[in-house]
Amino acid sequence: MKLLYITASPRDQHSYSIRVADAFLAAFQAKRPDVTVVKRDLFLDPLVPFGADAAAGKYAIMHGTTASPEAEVAFAGVKKVIDEFASADLYLFAIPMWNFGIPYVLKHYFDVIVQPGFTFTVTEQGYAGLLQGKTAVPVFAQGGDYSIPETAGYDHQKPYAEMILGYMGIQDVHSLVVGPTLAAGREVAGEKLKEAIAAAQALAAKLAAGTP
Ligand SMILES: Cc1cc2nc3c(=O)[nH]c(=O)nc-3n(C[C@H](O)[C@H](O)[C@H](O)COP(=O)(O)O)c2cc1C
Repeated sequence: MKLLYITASPRDQHSYSIRVADAFLAAFQAKRPDVTVVKRDLFLDPLVPFGADAAAGKYAIMHGTTASPEAEVAFAGVKKVIDEFASADLYLFAIPMWNFGIPYVLKHYFDVIVQPGFTFTVTEQGYAGLLQGKTAVPVFAQGGDYSIPETAGYDHQKPYAEMILGYMGIQDVHSLVVGPTLAAGREVAGEKLKEAIAAAQALAAKLAAGTP
């Protein structure tokens, strides 16, 4: 079994999402020491650009046309990142809320891996995800409180990330939220962190027990 751990916060051990995701990982590894863990730090590990050539490669696939040599080269880099993603069984994400959405490095990552013929396809019934039988645990850190009706509509972080995972076929998604990490003060943030770590540990034990 392979676990891909993707971090989208630059704050290392100051990061709430990373501390909760780390707790999940430690608890999961304690039950499943055989798991292979691959880490991808989106702020430290360089990611291929997705510019004109890569976009041309994507449109060539969608239109069934031959890509230019430049597009082929650009798309080869994209495929490497997709291969790493598609080879995992379990995904662990640490995702801060930035300006009500996900940090740009994670959007870049999704723009690289969400590709026709690799992670989704188009059928007569519409779009279909190609990554079947996988599980994801996204940890969302939020400075404010988006659990109440007055603010829920501002949250374009959790709904978007869950949607794009589902779009690639990943249906077994177990989201964890930590917050408010800022708006209610340090004491509340500390309590919320403890609660989220306990929830992450319980989820890890449950998932580790249920996986082959
Ligand atoms: C660039 C930036 C933008 C942010 N935008 C928001 C926001 O729109 N809403 C919010 O509730 N918190 C926002 N925050 C606060 C973070 O969501 C909060 O500090 C969270 O704990 C960050 O995740 P991390 O601790 O895993 O790094 C922002 C923080 C940064 C650095």
